Amino acid sequence: MEKTIEQIKEEAIKELEYASDPESIKAISVRYLGRKGAVTRYLRNVSNLPKEIRPKAGKKANETKKTLETLFKKTLKQLEAAADEADRRLDVSLPGRLVPQGSLHPITQITHQISNIFIRLGFDVAEGPEVETDYYNFEALNIPKNHPARDMQDTFYISKNIVLRTHTSPTQPRIMEKQKPPVRIISPGKVYRCDSDLTHTPMFHQVEGLLVDENVSFGDLKGILTTFVHQMFDPETSLRFRPSFFPFTEPSAEVDIRCVICKGDGCRVCSKTGWLEVLGSGMVHPAVFENVGYDTTRYSGFAFGMGVERIAMLKYGIDDIRKYFQNDLRFLRQF
Ligand code: PHE
Repeated sequence: MEKTIEQIKEEAIKELEYASDPESIKAISVRYLGRKGAVTRYLRNVSNLPKEIRPKAGKKANETKKTLETLFKKTLKQLEAAADEADRRLDVSLPGRLVPQGSLHPITQITHQISNIFIRLGFDVAEGPEVETDYYNFEALNIPKNHPARDMQDTFYISKNIVLRTHTSPTQPRIMEKQKPPVRIISPGKVYRCDSDLTHTPMFHQVEGLLVDENVSFGDLKGILTTFVHQMFDPETSLRFRPSFFPFTEPSAEVDIRCVICKGDGCRVCSKTGWLEVLGSGMVHPAVFENVGYDTTRYSGFAFGMGVERIAMLKYGIDDIRKYFQNDLRFLRQF
């Protein structure tokens, strides 16, 4: 039986749905509307139909022809536009699209600056694990179990004897166990304390320093740290060594620098004192040397530890430590 014009139309539309490029549309168009196309043939055949239905069938066939013509044209246009767009996308003569470039985090940059100063002074860089044993984090550093000195650091315990290191100082005994004096190292890295406010984040960064040799004096400690501060901040910056306490150094000192904001006049940043604390330091405690098997009568040494975030805050005038870790590009792009 001959196909009705409705069937022909439906088939044409279905074929069109599967067409994915201008060429196949043209081919479909020829197959239906071309000289020997299905619609054309149907139209030619109308004159053979019974007289009563002839006008109606003719009208319907002509309408179908028009509908299909418009539909083919429209689809062709759409596909051509899409092909054009694809061509444009492949235009190799266009300038490349810039991929936004990342940069080193300010804390990484300051860590590098600090390290480079000490490297120039002859220090090596050593790293230690962030998940540390209670022994290296505390006991080897003369902080016995249940001793009140442990209250100085709010610790994250992984288990009874495993902690997230609270400072970079455990690298001191780790290095000394492996190496005989002279030792001259710095150790940068992440440290963790259960503490969080405007000036504290649970994770922060420190750079540790350790120098052990014969005849090392407190004068050497002052000399090295003064050189460091002058190179890091300004050769005019004055320093102040304030007596302090750390279980693993004796004597111990905290180091303040003249406020970089007000130059000593007193401001909000230095709480009107004119001084800013930047470092903990001291002469290595003999108990620490004993723990690693160093001869305490022959060797002496000094150690220091500084907070990288704090140094960076002072250097760049940043007032909130949390900004470092919020991943806000408006902040990070400034460095
Ligand atoms: N580890 C100490 C702290 O985190 C700093 C320090 C290091 C003090 C080395 C003295 C010597 O507070």
